[in-house]
Amino acid sequence: MSGSGKETNIIAGLNTVIDVDLQQTIKRVKNDLLNDNTPFGFDLFKKHSQSLRTLQELIDVAPETGTDEEKVKGERNAVEGLISDVCLPFLRSFAPSYDGRADLFAALLNICDMTLVCLKRSSQEMIVKVLELCLQSLIAYHRECSRHSDSGSDQALDILCALELLCTTLEVPSLPHNNQNDELYHRIFSAALSILSHLEEKTANRLISFVIVRLIQQQTRERNVYLQETWKLVEADVHAHDKGKRKLSTRNLQQHLTMMCSMANFFFPLTSETVSPDVRQCQAFWELVQLGLYHENPAIRKRSAYLLKRIIDTCEKSDVDFNPPDLSSGASSLPYFWWSKKQQERLSKVWEDALLLLETLDEKQTHVIKPILPRMQTLLDASKKENGSVLLHTSWIVTILMRAFSHESVFIVRWASDTVLFMDFTAVPFMEQGQLQFLTQQLLGFLQDLKLYQRPDGSPAGSCTSVGTGLKQFFANVCKSLESKQQKVEFVEHVLSVLVKDNWSSVPLVFITQGVSCISPDAILGQQALITVREIVNISLTSLENIFRGAIECFMTKTVLSLLDKDAVSVDEFMETLAVLERDESLQRGTQLWSTVVSWLLTAATEKDRSTWSWSAMEKTLTAMVDSYLTVSTDATGSPLAETGRVTKIARFVALMSDCEYKMKQNKMDNRGKEDGKPLLTATVLKAVDVVNNINVRVYMPVLKADRAIFLLLSCAKELGKGKNGMQDPSQKELCDLVHGCWNELLTFVEKRTLLGKQESEQDHVDLDLVIFYADAVKTLGELLPVGAGVNGLTKAVDACTKVMDTSSTASPLQQVAALSLLSAVAQVVGTELRREARAHNSVKSEGLQDLSNKLWKLFSTMSLDCDIFTGHTGGSSAHQGRHVCQYMMSLWQCLRVLLTHKPGVREASLVLHAALEAFSVSSGECDMPIMHCLELVMPELLQGVDHHAKVIQVIRIAWGKVYEEIKSWSFWLKMEAYVNMTLQKPLLVLMDEEDVELGVYMNEVLERFFEVGQEKAGMLNLVIARLCQLWAEPEGIALATKMVSTIVDACMFGTVHKKAERLCLDVYMYIETLKENCSVNEILSSSSKNDVYVRLAAINFLSSLKPGVAEHKRLAMAVLEEGWKRYEELYQMSTFRQFTNSLPHLHKHRAVQIFPVLDQFIGKDLCLDFCKQTWDALVLECHPSVRQNLEWLLMRLVHRYPQELLPFLWKCFDQFSDKRNISLISLLHIVTRVGPELPVDLREDFYMEAIPLVMPWTMAHHFNTRLHGQAAIYKLWGQCQEMKLKARQYKVVESCVKFLNENGNSSAVLGKLMGNYFYSHFNFLRDYSMETMFYTLPRLACLCDIEWMHPDLFHQLDASWQINGDSHLMPLYNESKTLAACEPGPWKMKATTESFEDTETTDGDVQKKIIPWRLMTPDSSAEQEYSHRRKGRNQDGLVLVTSLINKIPNLGGLCRTSEIFGVSEFVIGNLSYTDDRMFQTLSVTAEKWIPITEVQFFRLGEFLEEKKRESYTLVGVEQTANSVDLTKYKFPKKTLLVLGNEKEGIPPDILQQLDVCVEIPQQGIIRSLNVHVSGALLVWEYTRQQMENSDAE
Ligand SMILES: C[S@@+](CC[C@H](N)C(=O)[O-])C[C@H]1O[C@@H](n2cnc3c(N)ncnc32)[C@H](O)[C@@H]1O
Repeated sequence: MSGSGKETNIIAGLNTVIDVDLQQTIKRVKNDLLNDNTPFGFDLFKKHSQSLRTLQELIDVAPETGTDEEKVKGERNAVEGLISDVCLPFLRSFAPSYDGRADLFAALLNICDMTLVCLKRSSQEMIVKVLELCLQSLIAYHRECSRHSDSGSDQALDILCALELLCTTLEVPSLPHNNQNDELYHRIFSAALSILSHLEEKTANRLISFVIVRLIQQQTRERNVYLQETWKLVEADVHAHDKGKRKLSTRNLQQHLTMMCSMANFFFPLTSETVSPDVRQCQAFWELVQLGLYHENPAIRKRSAYLLKRIIDTCEKSDVDFNPPDLSSGASSLPYFWWSKKQQERLSKVWEDALLLLETLDEKQTHVIKPILPRMQTLLDASKKENGSVLLHTSWIVTILMRAFSHESVFIVRWASDTVLFMDFTAVPFMEQGQLQFLTQQLLGFLQDLKLYQRPDGSPAGSCTSVGTGLKQFFANVCKSLESKQQKVEFVEHVLSVLVKDNWSSVPLVFITQGVSCISPDAILGQQALITVREIVNISLTSLENIFRGAIECFMTKTVLSLLDKDAVSVDEFMETLAVLERDESLQRGTQLWSTVVSWLLTAATEKDRSTWSWSAMEKTLTAMVDSYLTVSTDATGSPLAETGRVTKIARFVALMSDCEYKMKQNKMDNRGKEDGKPLLTATVLKAVDVVNNINVRVYMPVLKADRAIFLLLSCAKELGKGKNGMQDPSQKELCDLVHGCWNELLTFVEKRTLLGKQESEQDHVDLDLVIFYADAVKTLGELLPVGAGVNGLTKAVDACTKVMDTSSTASPLQQVAALSLLSAVAQVVGTELRREARAHNSVKSEGLQDLSNKLWKLFSTMSLDCDIFTGHTGGSSAHQGRHVCQYMMSLWQCLRVLLTHKPGVREASLVLHAALEAFSVSSGECDMPIMHCLELVMPELLQGVDHHAKVIQVIRIAWGKVYEEIKSWSFWLKMEAYVNMTLQKPLLVLMDEEDVELGVYMNEVLERFFEVGQEKAGMLNLVIARLCQLWAEPEGIALATKMVSTIVDACMFGTVHKKAERLCLDVYMYIETLKENCSVNEILSSSSKNDVYVRLAAINFLSSLKPGVAEHKRLAMAVLEEGWKRYEELYQMSTFRQFTNSLPHLHKHRAVQIFPVLDQFIGKDLCLDFCKQTWDALVLECHPSVRQNLEWLLMRLVHRYPQELLPFLWKCFDQFSDKRNISLISLLHIVTRVGPELPVDLREDFYMEAIPLVMPWTMAHHFNTRLHGQAAIYKLWGQCQEMKLKARQYKVVESCVKFLNENGNSSAVLGKLMGNYFYSHFNFLRDYSMETMFYTLPRLACLCDIEWMHPDLFHQLDASWQINGDSHLMPLYNESKTLAACEPGPWKMKATTESFEDTETTDGDVQKKIIPWRLMTPDSSAEQEYSHRRKGRNQDGLVLVTSLINKIPNLGGLCRTSEIFGVSEFVIGNLSYTDDRMFQTLSVTAEKWIPITEVQFFRLGEFLEEKKRESYTLVGVEQTANSVDLTKYKFPKKTLLVLGNEKEGIPPDILQQLDVCVEIPQQGIIRSLNVHVSGALLVWEYTRQQMENSDAE
């Protein structure tokens, strides 16, 4: 009822007193309105709203005029007139769809209210008229929406008006049943359904609940028809989605579910009556429910859950079997849902678990979810065929997994992925029941999530994550469970196509391709799949880092080998695929992968009954490839470089076949009977050689043909590789001979092409790329030839180049570039040959080579080092010119490098330095490397005096800039290496401890910078430390190291805490490394370790190889110890505040103190006391157990070594303690209890005589922990005395003490725990002295994070001289005793390292769960609530909770939460701003968002209560008063309002007077009253409980 209660009362009163003439009044109000000049619309309404409202009240309460027919008729006409002349015109004038003003909507609702009271007094004709209007409006709206045009009729109402009017009209008692009326209703129903999908959520909900449901309710006769229509609509939509025609939109899903929920009473009645249609039989219905269950929108999930629960509940209660499966027809025909009386118990259990999982996954906290997860097993078991019955369709498992995958916790997502990846598809009928789509689509999508691949804390770096492991079996398992080959083909093709389509990042791609490569061998991959494989490789080439790429290529190759369907794919296509692999990353000759391909080809070639892959077929294919490649029409032009892919394919094929051939020969498998025939390589490549040999003879031979032939030779050379240590294998030798056979012709051709006249080269489009190609060919092929074999040709080439360079004024820039490029190629060949010659001892030197090299040296020693040859030339664009200059300089510096290597001192170092500075300033990045190489070579000479120091600083600085510029690209690593070699040289480094030499100071800066940048660039410092270790190992290296002590300590302490993404990449690098030769990239990019741990490894490895007997070593060791102490002191003095475990300062401290035990053997008698004191001082302050144990270890070892010197000091330390908690006392006790048994026999007795009286008093210390340690110490000491049979009889008292401790259960339990600790009872300071203990076991046991654990294997990998218990180092690598390693980590555990699935409960125990009974879920109430909120003057009838008297924020927050949980309809608060308070929100956990909150300030409370009373609420005070009723006796009316009292004062007396009743909670204790939140909660609960009871009764 609208209007305030007060007015209604007055009007009602007036009505009875005065006989109001309704007709007249209506007429007057109407006339006033119609005579108003304001046009119909919102303004007019506002103007008259007051009188309209009064009129409405009047009509509502006016008694029916009963007898006087005239009057009745008159009145009816009047109200009907009001509808037609006022209400409807108003509604026509409103357009709330376009005008979102809240008060316009309120006006609309008010007019509808008015219409309602009028309709109640109108004739049926009027009702029909209004319904017709609504219908026409709906139809018009539908037309408008579906045709996307604005053809709505003038008469039609705005859709929102029509809807509200319709809702209103349906509130009037319905028209009697007759065909006409029934048809009208039916038409309205159909129209309502048809517009549903066009409406926004709230409107649609309203239409469903207030129109559609109401119409069905009215219908008793044709209800099934209505239901049928409704279901058809939903079903069609779901089917369309199913068939992939379109995606079911969230809006539609939501609508459908709302509809099914709202009509649940009809579709799923609680009785066992049969309903048609029975949607439970329809798969589409269950698909809808499942889609809803894992939808991201919680409201949608709630609706689906409601339906599912309701249906299960009714099934459980009814006696009818429903849809029981026909088991004979296989798993595929299992219905999504079924029920049978016989299986009731098992089904109930299965569904209970399914619901439990689904609903618990709605929670956020993993600790609530974790114990539930094992229930998945019940479901998996239920889906298997067991004892002839299957209980659950696998789509439900998918539903739960889908929900879990979208959970915000990584833990849950990991669980979900593990569940699928490790699933046994042969037992669970996943594929039969059509879940393959989930695997190939959604699952692969989820697997892109990087979080899944992160290594859980505590698992060793480089280990495979569970997803990785799972993937390795997943694809194989799926394939195994697929029945037909076709299915397998489709599956694999699909997976591959997803890998191409989505934008995968490297890490998932690595693991997924690895997984695919593990599918068991089969013939699955056809042409299409091969194309996709190529695409995957090509895509990864463009975007990923080379290690990842290499791994992916390797896995893809393995996949191709094991899955290729040779019947569907030709040799050519196969080779095409191999050709896309990068030689420098994956498929390289000499790797295991290469051998695998060779063996594979051999097997394929010898397989019987497949002629297409026989050896001769392969040979034929190869021949055809080469022939077609070398066939070039006479007029063809173009660059050979355009066909890189093609030529790689041929060259790789040749190399592989050649290797096959040799292998066959080796195995005597060659049964072709032509032992003396040409080897395949020769036969093939000879074709190219012939072409080259004819180049200069056949004038008309197209240049392209020659180019192609050369390209083929070059590619074959690259493919075959250089051979190790100058030794060539048979294939390489063959090629070498072939090249030799055409070498001179080739050189002549190249000279002609690059050096001759301008026109010709322009004609044939010789450009810079071609020049570079030719130079490359000369270099690569030249290096292949035997020493001296190619000299003649080369000499001639040099002459030709010199000639061009001499005529620099006439030669074109390109010619000059070409000349120098060629020279540099020749120089490099000569350099290689000289090196080879030097290596081959005793052989005769090649004279030609000597002459040639002398010629070169002469040329280079006078060559100008600047590049001003181009100034003055104008030809070509500047971009061209830039590249020319660059290539020119590059060649220049390469020539220079060869010269400086073989003829040091020929060019003055200062000139080189000068030129380098200049070159750096003009060059782009490409020449940086040769320049740095040259500088490296001249550096020793430059540093002979001090003259060049300033320039050297300058050049190092500039070079660093060049390196740093490229820190993000791959070339960084090459440049960095060149830079490191240039700067880290002995002559430069020895200056480091000379403080007055500027260059020395600068070198310190350079090293510091390395460490600084190394923090960000993982792996960079590895290059530095590797180089330094190499220098330190050289003669005089130790002296050098002694000058670099600070750097050594820096390295020992180095280590970064990486960001997550970076750490992930590093972990995956490490994982790939562990695959060793199984992943060829490891064989190719061996030095690529990016793991920063190598820095510490290398430094410590170096230190641990020092020899105590060598004076120089001792000096270094002592210097390092001193520097280490300095660092450690700085750190612990700096940290007065607490440092968290595993924080960077903590780790730094730990790394610093790890140095001490490594080097303690160098501490001599002279210094031992100093060290001892220093260590003791540190122990007094140090707080981290991991650090303390290293310090204690040091002290134990020192005391053991120098007992005479140090024991007196130790005893003195006991004096400084008082009876307080003191950790250094505990350290002292640790030490004293350890050294005794290890002392020389003659010292022992005295030792114990001294120790026992000092320790004894502490067994009685007041402080618990101290006392405990005292007791433990005495226990140990006494035990040792006994064991050594020492005479300690005078200490009888100790014996009885220990006996007491032993017998007293309680204290021995605590003691036992303490003494069970690894450090206390298992650590032996002598036996456990090993690298393993120091760097792996102790850090692990002390709960340091895993970047601190350095496994002994890593040391071994780094330095082969480590032998188990060998004497190459200061201590053994591995610990001989396994006792310590087997211990549990210490008691300082800060955080659980891993969340594991194992520690979850089994399926039986009780678990936390929150399952809302479906009866309490009101799936469509949200829409209802929303409307009542917007609709002025309408109230809900539920509980109102008034908290205006409360002023403690936490109580309010808590009450708000309680109110939300129990569905309180109105939460009244003293001040709305309280809800913004953080404290409020902490307690309310967003409850304030979900319930209606009204603000009523304290001083307005009285007034508010009055208002509520008028709305017929019962006002209940929650308070203990003289008249209060016991809560157990009170029965709450539905419309209850609760007033809670103030925390201090309770409910004030004036308010008490206003209340209808007070209810108190019976108390029994002593305390006066309960907390107000608790009281409120109890009452709200009791109210709720009673209401539930009532509704059950109803
Ligand atoms: C801590 S009490 C207020 C002080 C209390 N009225 C007194 O006299 O000291 C706070 C509020 O909690 C509620 N309350 C506490 N104990 C109650 C009980 N046993 N029965 C009903 N309400 C109680 C009342 O609303 C009360 O006003």
